[in-house]
Amino acid sequence: MMIYLDNAATTWPKPEQTVASIADCIRNNGANPGRGGHKMSLAAGRLIYNARELLAKLFNVDNPSRIIFTGNATESLNLVLKGILKPGNHVITSSMEHNAVARPLHFLKGQGVEVSEIECSPAGIMDPGDVEKAIRKNTTAIVVLHASNVNGVIMPVERLGEIAANHGIKFILDAAQTAGLLDIDVERLHLDALAFTGHKGLYGPQGTGGLFIREGLEVIPLLQGGTGSKSESLEQPPDLPDRFESGTPNTPGIAGLAEGVRVVTEKGLGEIRKHENMLLRRFLDGLEQLKQIQIYGPGNPMLQVPVVSINVKDQDSSEIAFILDKVFNIACRSGLHCSPQAHKTIGTLNQGAVRFSFSMYNTIEDVDKTLHALEGIIAEMP
Ligand code: ALA
Repeated sequence: MMIYLDNAATTWPKPEQTVASIADCIRNNGANPGRGGHKMSLAAGRLIYNARELLAKLFNVDNPSRIIFTGNATESLNLVLKGILKPGNHVITSSMEHNAVARPLHFLKGQGVEVSEIECSPAGIMDPGDVEKAIRKNTTAIVVLHASNVNGVIMPVERLGEIAANHGIKFILDAAQTAGLLDIDVERLHLDALAFTGHKGLYGPQGTGGLFIREGLEVIPLLQGGTGSKSESLEQPPDLPDRFESGTPNTPGIAGLAEGVRVVTEKGLGEIRKHENMLLRRFLDGLEQLKQIQIYGPGNPMLQVPVVSINVKDQDSSEIAFILDKVFNIACRSGLHCSPQAHKTIGTLNQGAVRFSFSMYNTIEDVDKTLHALEGIIAEMP
């Protein structure tokens, strides 16, 4: 049996309810939502609205229409960043960002947007004081990830939200690694936009994601096209969610996502985090006993999500991941994890790192077998 520890890339397995709901949608509910008055189209529309409601409840969004569906967190981040930032605006971000934020910002820099990247510590920890110092007259937004996909470090989002609110700056959060695991309340965190993916901690299928957009935040849509509403007009409809949902949606995927959200909500985020923290603690304790291993990150379950990056001496990270897969049937991810800035920050831009990430389905046995495998690899090394 494979031990799957690549849950930061996508959680696997998915709950049976997710799988069943996708099949049921295609089999019994497969019409186009919002594009017909017949019973099956209306049922598909209800299914999508139901998913919106579940997500709104999870993130404490009072109006479910403010949540729009996208294909993934990257699309959501592109939409909001390109939709609000203009030449001459200034945006503050961190040195731990995934390319989902770093690349759109690099593109926007070429269009005349000013970008300040706050340098985090070698463990990836951000000092919110540095953000406050970086604020200028033209600062429009702060955009950060909630937790790093490289070493799991959690950003000081409560404090960043307060800083943004106090200075009248928009606060945009990339919750790709945290939705479904950490409590995200758009009001408490003063969020103006929240980008999330469906296929990680929300246990939905790949190809699902979304964006919360606070009322009053003017975002120019990336796409114009058919929405099933106001078809007589060439203007994109002004109302959400239609303004940002052109084209036939991924109804089966959204059906699966809704079930994933239901499973997570019924189990409880607190319970999921407790279980994953227990695995994380055991893994970190075990790694500390292995002298040849370098751990990157805070090394403290209170300061990180269950994502751990390591290296074994100066061995190539891809080589270690290859042996874990081939010899021990353990799936993890090596290299740069689409986050070169984060690897530069933690000092692993050349070597990359071997990343292990847990889900609610992992067990103590998975952790112990992985530690044992690493011990075996070290013992064989020259
Ligand atoms: N962003 C995902 C990862 O970190 C795919 O692996």
